[in-house]
Amino acid sequence: MFGTFTAVDRLSFTVERGEIFGFLGPNGAGKSTTIRMLCGLLTSTSGTGRVNGHDINREPDQVRQAIGYMSQKFSLYKDLTVAENIAFFGGIYGLKGELLRARTGSAVAMAGLTGLERHLTGTLSGALQQRLALGCAILHEPPILFLDEPTSGVDPVARRLFWDLIQDLASRGVTILITTHFMDEAEFCRRIGFINNGRLIALDSPAGIKATTGSRTLEEAFNTLANAPLTGTDTHSP
Ligand SMILES: Nc1ncnc2c1ncn2[C@@H]1O[C@H](COP(=O)(O)OP(=O)(O)OP(=O)(O)O)[C@@H](O)[C@H]1O
Ligand SMILES: [Mg+2]
Repeated sequence: MFGTFTAVDRLSFTVERGEIFGFLGPNGAGKSTTIRMLCGLLTSTSGTGRVNGHDINREPDQVRQAIGYMSQKFSLYKDLTVAENIAFFGGIYGLKGELLRARTGSAVAMAGLTGLERHLTGTLSGALQQRLALGCAILHEPPILFLDEPTSGVDPVARRLFWDLIQDLASRGVTILITTHFMDEAEFCRRIGFINNGRLIALDSPAGIKATTGSRTLEEAFNTLANAPLTGTDTHSP
């Protein structure tokens, strides 16, 4: 709760290893707040959660070691170079020496930033900054990734490339929880949790969500769920 305002209410779900789990819902629904609680960055007023076996309220440090987080306005330093940003985020996770050099090399290659290591981050295109932010979030090779609207402000081709990276990580066993307002991206998720007014009102595969709302597209389903009555609609995971 923020003061007397309940941003997230009785929300319950589990995500499986290697799953791409999509978090959908209108602006202000409580997606980012839920992610910040699961990342151990925000303590919930009540309720519990476990991330990689660690209690989000009692073991936030262990939770933070197990996760990578790309915040909604991702937090790169624009006035640092690519290499400096990577060194900074690597330092947070205690990477140094040979290990930092190796992980920096993989992050730069994954992000398509080879040759741009000494460029100021603020001068890169939105798509390259986004891929650098992903690279920084996975430097410590976390088993779980939280991506909060990672593709907003990025062109369709770059969005597709970004999803190739995400799907590649998931195929290697990384668990991914991602929020997006793009329904073509939501189709790539194994399951979708739909949040409205801080409540989880649907939890199913994209096909299942369309079927239960009688929609042909996820856009239609989004519209139906966003306008659903507020009571008696919460769904719990199996
Ligand atoms: N620090 C805060 N103090 C007070 N209210 C907050 C705070 N952070 C978020 N809220 C409120 O909590 C609600 C949920 O916000 P949240 O950012 O989680 O939504 P969201 O689903 O991520 O939305 P968007 O799609 O716009 O990113 C909103 O009404 C927001 O105004
Ligand atoms: Mg948000």
